[in-house]
Order: sequence, then structure tokens, then C-alpha cells
Amino acid sequence: MALIPQSFIADLLNRVDIIDVVGQHVKLKKAGANYQGLCPFHQEKSPSFSVSPNKQFYHCFGCGAHGSAISFLMEYSGLGYVDAIEDLARSAGLTVPREERTVQDVARQQQAMALSEVMSSAADWYRAQLKNAPRAIDYLKGRGLTGEIAKRYSLGYAPDGWQGLEAVFGPYSNDEVAKTLLEGGLLIQSEASEGNQTVRRYDRFRDRIMFPIRNPKGQVIGFGGRILDQGEPKYLNSPETPLFSKGNTLYGLFEARQAIRAQEYVLVCEGYMDVVALAQLGFPNAVATLGTACTANHVRMLLRQTDRVVFSFDGDSAGQRAAQRALEACLPLMSDDKEIRFLFLPTEHDPDSYVRAYGAPAFEKVIKEAASLSTFFFRVVSEDHDLTTPEGRAQTHHAAKPLLLSMPPIALRTQILRELAIRTNTSPAELEAFCGLTAISAAPSSQSRVQPRTEQGNFPNRMQGAPWQAGKGASKRVAQNIPPPQAPTDLAEQILRVVLQFPHLGKALDSSQRTLAIEAAEQRSSNAMSMMRDLLTQCDSVELIPSESGGTGEVGAGAFAMFQEQLAQSELAPLYEVLRKRVMESDLDLAGASADLEGAFKKLQTNQLKKEMTEITKKLSDSSATEQDRARYRELGEKLKFS
Ligand code: GTP
Ligand code: MN
Repeated sequence: MALIPQSFIADLLNRVDIIDVVGQHVKLKKAGANYQGLCPFHQEKSPSFSVSPNKQFYHCFGCGAHGSAISFLMEYSGLGYVDAIEDLARSAGLTVPREERTVQDVARQQQAMALSEVMSSAADWYRAQLKNAPRAIDYLKGRGLTGEIAKRYSLGYAPDGWQGLEAVFGPYSNDEVAKTLLEGGLLIQSEASEGNQTVRRYDRFRDRIMFPIRNPKGQVIGFGGRILDQGEPKYLNSPETPLFSKGNTLYGLFEARQAIRAQEYVLVCEGYMDVVALAQLGFPNAVATLGTACTANHVRMLLRQTDRVVFSFDGDSAGQRAAQRALEACLPLMSDDKEIRFLFLPTEHDPDSYVRAYGAPAFEKVIKEAASLSTFFFRVVSEDHDLTTPEGRAQTHHAAKPLLLSMPPIALRTQILRELAIRTNTSPAELEAFCGLTAISAAPSSQSRVQPRTEQGNFPNRMQGAPWQAGKGASKRVAQNIPPPQAPTDLAEQILRVVLQFPHLGKALDSSQRTLAIEAAEQRSSNAMSMMRDLLTQCDSVELIPSESGGTGEVGAGAFAMFQEQLAQSELAPLYEVLRKRVMESDLDLAGASADLEGAFKKLQTNQLKKEMTEITKKLSDSSATEQDRARYRELGEKLKFS
């Protein structure tokens, strides 16, 4: 796996000037030591967005957005951590060094680049063909689309024929040409059969309106093709390729980004045509899943763009099922500053047809009135159950349990739980206990007792050094008696690593510990935060069975393994790989892991106390401290003395 060394990132941030980076997207004016502009992350008329050249940070006093050049690119362009670093490095004329880049990595990247070029050339050609295809133009016009919108979404036309793309790439008989086109799903190759010894290669997309699908960087990674007349299949999508996976892609996100920011919400629908038609009809902030269920990755991508998401579903049963899947994808990623709604259209309508039938203001109205997440949650869990009977209420609890367990420990979870308890004639405590949400102690066996540490912070029985600093560096540090670095970022990693290895230790964390862990991870990166959330959520499904011998077995470990499998294929894969590697190196047993975790939380708690102390000190020095502050100050002093 190719990893980016931290030293490079530090170096990169030293070399680029955040004023340049932000200045490319936001008009900045000098104001004293800083620069000011209109915040790109929320809508405003007077500038509250400030960029500091000295601190190399931006901060918005309006919406609280803040961070470095890297986080700016991630937020503004919707790029992942690695992509943002690569972009920044490119602009600084640096190449990102990779640790342990294997031959396969290099080959994979070259392949991806070749594919990307092919897709982009194909899109250009399809677009050009549209101009000479009156039938296709008439079709689009017939659906109410103007040339302007067709241009914005780079709509094209794949002519009727078998070797259309030869005009761009040369004869398909050339294996080199065919290889990349086949890989990109633009060509289909017929197998040689007994009667026919020659393989035939021909265009996948023929006589179709072409919707190029882009990644958040704007590169074309796939296509959707719609038939012009009646016929099957109505839509033809690119197959999954090394560039394109439906579960990680939202149609129209690239085109809609600015509008999502301006409208302060994103509308998620089911079809290509909905997105394009909605853009035409005054809703340019729409995106679509690609004929697949909404995944956690989709939700993550959406929440990276905005805090408000409205899913729109058809009123039929397929729509209901899709909505439930979306709810399940959202719950683990929910936080109290986000708003997710579910809109159900009348059975016969999709967003496109609804707006055409009732007009934009009517659609705007139903968007505003869309069911809140909690409303839809209650509907899903109580659906088909009679709440007037004990059985019905029990079935509702049964249905709610996995959903509640999948949520991070946020205020909304408490509220939903409480509300559900009331509606089902139960006390919140009972429901909490039923769901297993009450924190249990992390001491499944005597083995996991925290062992006393020596002054250097090492285990007496593990003289090679603290286990999370595996390898030579750690022992060197110990030998020289240098305390290990204690940045919260390291602590986040420490927690992630332990929980990845021993999920039941994660399960036992209480809500304040979870909050601390998520905050620490957030300081590291948004990926780390996503990982921490997902991981803690996933831990909750693992049951621990302590055995007499002191060993442990885990129920639900299969699901946890599957979750890891998914992680390895998600955008969190690079981070996951780092952590896996740490787990391998650390060779921790349960006792060590438990002690590590304990140690990490102790430090996080201490850091938090220190932060509070600093704040009170500030108040004391400008004499705005109250009597309460003074008392708290003394209390903190005592606590810190003992920690
Ligand atoms: P229009 O009929 O053009 O208005 O499209 P629509 O968006 O209303 O289509 P529909 O609701 O039928 O489908 C929604 C989405 O499901 C489409 O955008 C496609 O992504 C997918 N889809 C629909 N039909 C097919 C099909 O025949 N094959 C595949 N692979 N996907 C389809
Ligand atoms: Mn439609």
C-alpha cells in the first residue's frame, strides 16, 4: 500500500501558501494581518471568512469552517485526503513520495491514468456526435432540456453502429487499443465459439443519449446511456471498472457542488434524468445514485459537501425499500449538526415528473415538509406492528435495536430512544438495556486488568517499549529516556488500532469516551473520524464470551470481519492499511491492548482538563472569572495533580 509520509505533508504545508490555495477559489482582500472574503462554505453577504498567512489557517466566523490548505481542498473540492495532498503537491511542483510503493501500485496507477484518458476522449466524442444527431437533440428537447443544460452536464450521443469509437481510438483489432477500451467498459468482446473462431469487439453504447459520470475531481469515470425510444434496457450503465464503482459514485455531484453550497442542501434522487431535469427546473443541487442502493460511502460523500441532505424516493414499495437502505446507511454517520430528510413522492412520480406536473414551488414545498430522520425511523421500526399489543411493541424494539446500535452516541440517539420508549410504553432505561446500550466495564477477564506502568510509561513486562511504538524507534526512545510524543493524533491512532484488533474493547467504551475518541480522530483527519465512528458502531454488534481459561470468543466476529473487508475497499482503505500494519507490528495481547486504550483515554481526558484550565486561566487574567470558575479551577488543579 502506498502511504504518504507525515514528514512530506508537513513539508508540503510549509511550501504552499494557503492564501494562494484559497485565493484560487475565493476572492480575498487584505484586512490587517489577515485576508478576508465571502465564505465558500455557507451563504453570506458580508465577509466573515478569514485566512491567516501567518498561521496558514482559514476560519469562518459565520459557520465555523476552519482548517489548513489540505482541509480547504477537501471541503471545497470534495476531495479525499490523499487526493487533496496530491493536488496540492502538484501545484507546488512536488511529487508525493510513497512508502513501499509496489510494482503493482505503479502498474495500477498507470492503468488508471490510461483509463481516465480514454473515458475523457470518449466523452468528448459522444458530445460532439450529439450536434449531428437531430433525433437525439429532439429527444432531449422533448424532455424539456435546453442546450445550456446539456452542455453543463456534457450530455452526448452514441451513434447507432458497432465501431463508433474507432474514429477516436483506431481499429479495435489493435489489442493495445482494445485492452483499455474493454477495461473501461466501452467495448464488448464476444467470445470465440466453435462456429466462429474470430472474437468480435463492438461498442457497448449504441444509439443512446450519453450521460458522462464524473468523480469529484471532474474526471469522467463512466457513462449512463438512455435509449431514445421505448426498449430494453432503458438505461445502460458502464460496468464497474478500476475507476468506477457505483457504490462510491454519485451522478451529478461534480456539477452540483457549487449549487449545493449555495442552497445549503443536497437533493438525492434515483435517476440521471431527474438530476439533469431538476437542474433545468431550478434545482441544480441534485445528485443521483446510479441505480443502486445508497451506501455509507454515498452518505459520507454527501455529508462532506453539506450538513443537509434530502433523499427523494418514489412512493412505491421499491422506493420504501430504497429509503430504508438509505436510513441504514445514514445512521452510523449521523451527528447532531446534520439534518437528513426523506421525501416520498406520490407513487406515479419521480422528481422530474413531479416538478413538471405541479411546478417548482410545489416541489420546494414538499422538500421542506419531507420527513425528518427520526420520523422516518419511527415509521420503519413500527411499520406492520400493532403498538397496542405487547407483541407489537416488542417487535418494534426488536426492529429498532440494530438501528439504534448503529448510531454514534449523539444526542439524537438519546432523543429517538426516549421517544420510542414513550411510544412503546417502556422506560428509556429498559429500552437502553434491551439494546445493550448501557456501558459495560472493559474487564472481561483478569487478563485485561491494567498493569501498572513505570515512570517511563512502559509496562514492566514489556521492556521493548510501549507497544504502540513498535519497532526500533520506540526502543531507541526508551534507551535515551525521551518521552514519546503525545499528540492527540497519535492517541486517535492508538485507539483505532486497539479497537480494530479487539472490537469488544471498543464496545465497552461509554459515550463520553466515544466522543473524546471521535474528537481526537477529527483532529487527525476527516477520514480518521469516519473510521472511528464506523469502527465504534461496528464494535457494538460484537459480543464477547469470556471463557474459563481466560481466553475469549467473539460472537458477531464474522460481521466484523466483513466490515473490515469493506473498509479495505472503501476510501478509508489507506488509513485502514496503516492501522492494519500497526496491529501486525505491535503484536499486542488483550492485556496490553486494554492498557493502551486506558492510557490513551487518560491522556485525552487530561488534555481536555488542561484545555479547560487554560480557558479559566484566561478568564482569571482578564478578571472575568466567576466564583464558579474559581472553584472549578481548584478542582481541575487537584485532578491534574493526580492524573
Ligand atoms: P426516465 O425514464 O428517462 O425519466 O428515467 P428515470 O430516471 O425516471 O428512470 P427510472 O426511474 O426508471 O430509473 C432510475 C435509475 O435506475 C436510472 O437513472 C438508472 O440509473 C437506473 N435504471 C433504470 N432502468 C435501468 C435499466 O434498464 N438498467 C439499468 N442498469 N439501470 C436502470
Ligand atoms: Mn423519470
